[in-house]
Amino acid sequence: MAILDLKYYGASVLTRPAKPVKRIDRELLKLAQDMLESMYHYHGVGLAAPQVGVSKRMIIVDCGEEYQEEPYILINPEVVSAEGKQFGPEGCLSLPEFFTDVERPDKVVVEAMSLEGKTIRINGQGLLARALLHEIDHLNGVLFTELVSDEEVLANEIPVMKDRIRKILSGELPAVPEYEEDIELEDRVAVEA
Ligand code: NI
Repeated sequence: MAILDLKYYGASVLTRPAKPVKRIDRELLKLAQDMLESMYHYHGVGLAAPQVGVSKRMIIVDCGEEYQEEPYILINPEVVSAEGKQFGPEGCLSLPEFFTDVERPDKVVVEAMSLEGKTIRINGQGLLARALLHEIDHLNGVLFTELVSDEEVLANEIPVMKDRIRKILSGELPAVPEYEEDIELEDRVAVEA
């Protein structure tokens, strides 16, 4: 397994639709394992293949045992239905340390293929619904900044984030942020996907 480098805001792979997976082969299995390891390494609750530079429709989601018994590795996921509303903080590993409130449906049903090639259906609520929707958006080339209605937040925060990305890419800042307190880490990574 390997830790993969993240693609950050501004990378073209993040703003174009990813291609459907046609075949589950060894290459895809390895990508899934590497994505899983990378998601935990960067303290995310989700990761989409375009975030590691691979334009394929595969996502990983692990919101913890409160939400799921094991990590989801989902191929060609589709939102079957969405209902309700939640409004809360969201973040993205490709948009380092940019967190803001975003409205999402509170409940979703997602259908996808497992690594074994079986059709699976997942009911997600709360954080799990948010993470599934966030990752599926990535497959459509959509970043959560598109859901932010407060123009002022975007105008203020995006230049700061771009500067942070520049520093990460040049090695001035670590790719995994070092937080002062664990409690803060818990709070913040809970929504980063
Ligand atoms: Ni993301």
